[in-house]
Amino acid sequence: MSSSARAFVRRHARLRPVPGLETIRLHLADDVLSLWRAVQLETGDPDAALPYWAFAWAGGLAIGRYLEEHRDVVAGKRVFDFASGSGLCAIAAARAGAVSVTAADVDPFAAAAIELNARANETRPAVVARDVLADAPPDVDVILAGDCWYEAPLAERVLPWLRRAGDRGIDVIAGDPGRRYLPLDVLAEIAVYRVQTTTDLEDLAQKDARVYRLRPDSPEK
Ligand SMILES: C[S@@+](CC[C@H](N)C(=O)[O-])C[C@H]1O[C@@H](n2cnc3c(N)ncnc32)[C@H](O)[C@@H]1O
Repeated sequence: MSSSARAFVRRHARLRPVPGLETIRLHLADDVLSLWRAVQLETGDPDAALPYWAFAWAGGLAIGRYLEEHRDVVAGKRVFDFASGSGLCAIAAARAGAVSVTAADVDPFAAAAIELNARANETRPAVVARDVLADAPPDVDVILAGDCWYEAPLAERVLPWLRRAGDRGIDVIAGDPGRRYLPLDVLAEIAVYRVQTTTDLEDLAQKDARVYRLRPDSPEK
C-alpha cells in the first residue's frame, strides 16, 4: 500500500482503543465530515467514498465481541474479512486464533488503515485492496461480513457471493445493526450486543447490533 495513503491515515485518525473491545486499538477519526472533505481534497474526487475505514461500525463491533466470546468459530481456521474497513474483524479473528486472515476492501485508504491497524495490534493479515465480488469466493473456512448491507448496489452483489461461499461449506458470519438491506430471511441470529457508535454516523450513540450466520439452506432470491 502506498506510503502516502498510510501517511494520510496517520494524519487524520488517532490510534485509540475500540469501545467495547478495548484490547484492540484502531486509527479512528473524530469528525466524519471534515475527514470526508480531506479525502475529497487528497484524491481530487468530489465523489470519493465516505472514509468508512476511520470508524468501527456497529456490525463489525458485534462480530468483534462475538469472536472474543466464541474463539472456536475462527481458532485454527482460515478467515476472510470481507468489506474490512479499519480491519476490525480481521484483527479480532487473528486475536481469537485464526491460522490465517485476509482482509479485503475496495478503498485504498482502507487498505492503508488495515495495515497500520494490524501492525498496532501485532497481527499480520494479508490485505486485498480490490473488489473481490467478481471473483469466486476465497478458499477459506470462515467469511466475516461486518456491516455491509447499508446500500442497495452492494447488498445486491454481496448476497449471491456469500451464498456461493455457503454452498462450498464456508461458514459465513455477518454483523449488522438492522440496516435497510439486511436479508433477514436467509440469516440465523446467533448473538446480540449493545455497541457504542457515534451520532455523527448513526441515529443513536448506542445500537443493538446482531451477529448472524448465513443459513445453509437459505432460499435462492
Ligand atoms: C460500513 S463499512 C464496514 C467496515 C467494517 N467491516 C466494520 O464493520 O467496521 C463497509 C466497508 O465495505 C467496503 N466495501 C464496499 N464495497 C466493497 C466491495 N465490493 N468489496 C470490498 N469492500 C467493499 C467499504 O469500502 C467499507 O470500508
